[in-house]
Parts: sequence; C-alpha cells; structure tokens
Amino acid sequence: MSTPASRTIRRIGLLTGGGDCPGLNAVIRAVAKTAIYQYGIEVIGIRDGFVGLIENRMSPLTLGSVSGILSRGGTILGTNNKANPRRFATGRNARGEPIFEDVTQRCLQNIEAHRLDALIVIGGDGTMSAASIFVEHGVNVIGVPKTIDNDIVGTEITFGFLTAVATATEALDKLHSTADSHHRVMVCEVMGRNAGWIALTSGVASGSDVILLPEIPFHHDHIAEFVGERMGNGGPGFAIVVVAEGACPVDGEKVVARMDHTSHDAVKLGGIGQVVAAEIERRVGIETRTTVLGHVQRGGGPIAADRILATHFGYHALRVLVSGGHSRMVVRQNNVLSDVDLLFAAHKQRLVPADHPLIAAARAVRTCFGDGVPYGGGGGADAVV
Ligand code: F6P
Repeated sequence: MSTPASRTIRRIGLLTGGGDCPGLNAVIRAVAKTAIYQYGIEVIGIRDGFVGLIENRMSPLTLGSVSGILSRGGTILGTNNKANPRRFATGRNARGEPIFEDVTQRCLQNIEAHRLDALIVIGGDGTMSAASIFVEHGVNVIGVPKTIDNDIVGTEITFGFLTAVATATEALDKLHSTADSHHRVMVCEVMGRNAGWIALTSGVASGSDVILLPEIPFHHDHIAEFVGERMGNGGPGFAIVVVAEGACPVDGEKVVARMDHTSHDAVKLGGIGQVVAAEIERRVGIETRTTVLGHVQRGGGPIAADRILATHFGYHALRVLVSGGHSRMVVRQNNVLSDVDLLFAAHKQRLVPADHPLIAAARAVRTCFGDGVPYGGGGGADAVV
C-alpha cells in the first residue's frame, strides 16, 4: 500500500511501543487534539503496541478519551516491549517453547481494513526498528522518540528522561540523609540500559560523590581509594555512589539480571549496584547498602518539562505528517524541533560521549568516575571545560 505524500490524510493509527514512560499520555493527547482540531483527521488508538495491530485491537480516540490524561503516567493505549511483527510468538510447541511467526501481512491487512493513511508510533529504538518493517511495505510511519534512557540517535533529548532524572535525584537526596546519619556508603543503581544519561544527570543533580557510567569502565580500586578518603579523618564520613545498570569494570562484563528472548531487548541488565557495594565494603571496610530504583523511574506522571516536550513532539508529528513527511521521526536538535529519517534511529543507541561537558563539570567539583582521572578538573582558571 502506498500513501504518496500528496494523498490527503484522513485517518491515522497511533500506538505506544516499548517500555512505558512519563509523558506518553501527553503525546497521545497532543496527537489526537492536533489531528482532530487542526486537520479534521480521525485518530485510531491501537492497543498494546504492535500486539494491537497484529490482533486487530484498535478503536477511535476522541476528544473525550484524551481529556484529563496530560499529567497521567503510563499510556492509556497500553504498550508492549516484546511484539515484533517479523517474529511474533503465536503459540508454543510440544516442548512448551514459543513458536515465532512473521505476521507482517496480518498487520498490513488490518491497516487496510481500518483505512489508515499513516501510523504514528511512539517508542524507543526497538519500536522504531519494528516500525521500519512497515516502511519497507510502503506504510507511512511517523515516529515520536520515547524513552527514559535518552539514548535515541538523532534527538538530543527524549520525553520521559527528565522525569526519570527527577525521580532518581529525589531518591539520591533521600539516601544522603541516611548515609550522613549512619556514616555509610549508599550505592544507588539506576536504569538507562547501555547509556549513562540518567546516572550522569541525576548524579550531578544530587551531588553524588561517585558516578559510574557504561561509557567509562571503572576500577574498583579507584572507587575504594576515593571512598576511603571521604570516610577517613577529615572526610565527610559518608559517600553516595550512583551506578548505571549498564556500567561495568574495566575488563569486566555487564551484570545481566535475566534474559528475555521474547523482548525487543533480550538482555535485562541489573545487579551491578550490589557488586560495587560489596567491593567497596570489602576494600574499605565500611558498611555499605544498595538501592535499586528500577521501574520507579518509569512510573508516575511527567514533570512539567516533559509535559511540554511531549506536547511539542505530538504536535510536531502531525505537522510533519500533513506537510508531506514520509517515514520520519520527530527530534529536537539544538533546542529546535525537526525530523530525521525514521530508519536513522533504528537499531542504534546514543551513548554519553566521553568529552560531554557535564562529565568535566562533575570532575571539576571532585566527582569520581572510577577511572583514575584526577579529580578537580585539573585545569587552571583558564581551563576550558
Ligand atoms: O528502556 C527503558 C528501560 O527502563 C531500561 O532503562 C531498562 O533497562 C529496561 O527498560 C527494563 O525493561 P523491562 O521493563 O522489560 O524490564
């Protein structure tokens, strides 16, 4: 099915894929209201990500159904981070193992049956990868980048990220008081998959003493030396360590909590926080505790900044669509909304660059990244950060 740019857009499908995140409902609201009010376009809400497209579970989104959802967490459409139309579990064999089939054609039939002129998909790199299947079959897809991990290539920020940072920062602030009161080391593991954006940003926001990122492999010895100084005479007598779930020691492996081969992302990271805490306790001899924030970072309503970004993304997705955009993903670059080829984001992740200015700023205020680089920035008054 081809929907050339010139064809009038009368009806679009909207789905949310991948992990949930704060701001999803704000995007749904913006897409639906802009489509209905500005362009008279009908919006069909597809349930539970691509599963709803496969199983033909979809229904109209009305002004009433998107009323009052701006500040609500999660997604009123439901989501799913397992469904890939090219490899969908349709049952189990005699041994109880999942049977995978390519159900792309079933999706295309459902798109035709509902007379959808385009799809708007809100999701991360896994969702964009799955959506690329429909691009190959001539379906017009507009992507809206979504993830708390902030690791989507092409955009400088994704909605959900700043709310997750606010949640992690609040948790780290709370850990400060117990660390200080008990003269302890508190280790907090945060999400982010293979990127350290949440750890870096919440670590700086909370004044954490040690920030461990996937992008900067660490040495347990360097962490122990730094923590030992803080716990020693004259030191503050406590330390806060924030560790990204994808962080790992030099020559070490990421810690995997479990494998889920039915998910977009089979590798479910988790557990590095406990490893770091145990090594600190063994080397420094100081009582250490670990907190794993987990899905708390994905829950709850979006902060104002994410509501604004999400609303802007949703509105811009319609602008791109009605102006003839075909298989594009909305992005923010240099604080300006734009769009890139949808396939640009698929199958890739945006990691924290080693020379990111926030790393230099953190080092300048004597934050340890476990890599042995001297603290305090190292530059004089004219140091360029
Ligand atoms: O991609 C968002 C994210 O929360 C990651 O930070 C985390 O590693 C992963 O999803 C967890 O996936 P699930 O919700 O399937 O456990």
